[in-house]
Amino acid sequence: MRHVMSPLDLSVEELEQILNLAADIKANPKKYAHACDGKKLATLFYEPSTRTRLSFEAAMLNLGGSVLGFSSADSSSASKGESVADTIRIISSYADICAMRHPKEGAPYVASMYSKIPVINAGDGGHQHPTQTLADLMTIRSEKGRLDHFTIGLCGDLKFGRTVHSLIKALIRYPGIRFVLISPEELRLPDYIRDDVLKANNQDFREEVRLEDALPDLDLLYMTRVQKERFFNEEDYVRMKDFYILDKAKLALAKDDMLVLHPLPRVNEIATEVDDDPRAVYFKQAQYGVYVRMALILTLLEVEVC
Ligand code: CP
Repeated sequence: MRHVMSPLDLSVEELEQILNLAADIKANPKKYAHACDGKKLATLFYEPSTRTRLSFEAAMLNLGGSVLGFSSADSSSASKGESVADTIRIISSYADICAMRHPKEGAPYVASMYSKIPVINAGDGGHQHPTQTLADLMTIRSEKGRLDHFTIGLCGDLKFGRTVHSLIKALIRYPGIRFVLISPEELRLPDYIRDDVLKANNQDFREEVRLEDALPDLDLLYMTRVQKERFFNEEDYVRMKDFYILDKAKLALAKDDMLVLHPLPRVNEIATEVDDDPRAVYFKQAQYGVYVRMALILTLLEVEVC
C-alpha cells in the first residue's frame, strides 16, 4: 500500500506512467468507465476547495466508483475534537482510498501513519499539493510537448503557495529547467525550498521582484494567488494582494508561445481580459486535473485496465 504526500513519492518513471495513463483516459474515457466498480473514495477536506475535491470526486465517479466524505472540519467530528489519527482509522473501514486536505502542514502524513488505505495529500497548509503538480505537469507536457529544457517563472505568493513548492520538487528532476522566482520580498520562497531543494541540487534559478523584468525570458509563467488564509493579519494581506496583476499590456512583453498557468482560484492576479489569449491555459489545467487524479487512483489501487 502506498501514500502520496509529495511529488517525490513518485519516481520520474512513475510520473511518466501516470501522465501516459491520464492521456489514455482522456482519449478513451469509456475504457475506464467501470475500472473502479465497487470501490469507494473518501474525500476528507478540513479546508475549502472547489477543484481538488470535486475533481477527485469526478475522477472516482468516472471510474465507476463511489464517493463519501466531508467538505469542512465543521461538518465532521473534528469540530468535537476528534484527531486525524482516529478519523483515518475509522475511514479505513469505510473506503478503499482517501484524499485529505488540511490547513496543518503534515496532517495527511500523520493520517498515513494510522491508515489501512492509501492516503493522498490534497494540500496541507503552505507545504505541498502533489496532485496539483500532476495537473500542472500534464498541462505542460500536453501543451508544450515536453517536460524539460524551459524557463519557468513562478510568480506571486511563493512563501505560502504549496502548489509552487510541489511543482519545484517535481521539475528539478528534469534536465534544462531554469526557474525565475518572482515575488515581493515578504513572499519569497522559504529557505527549506530555496536552499534545501534548489541550491542543494545545483538548480539554475534567479529571483526577481518585477514581473515585467522576467516576462521576456519565460517559456512558462505560473501565476499564483496571495494566500489570504495563511496571513496573520489582514493589513499585510491587503498590502500584498494586488502586487502582481497580469493584464494584456504586460502579456505583450512575453513570447508568442509562452503559456500562462495558474492552479486557481484566481482573485485579481490575472485580469479576465487575459482569459481569451491562446497562451492562457489555466482552465484546461483544471480539466487535466480530473484525468491525472483518475490515473493516480488507478495506480494506487493497483487497478489495471486492458
Ligand atoms: N488548485 C486548487 O487546489 O484549487 P482548490 O483550492 O479549489 O481545490
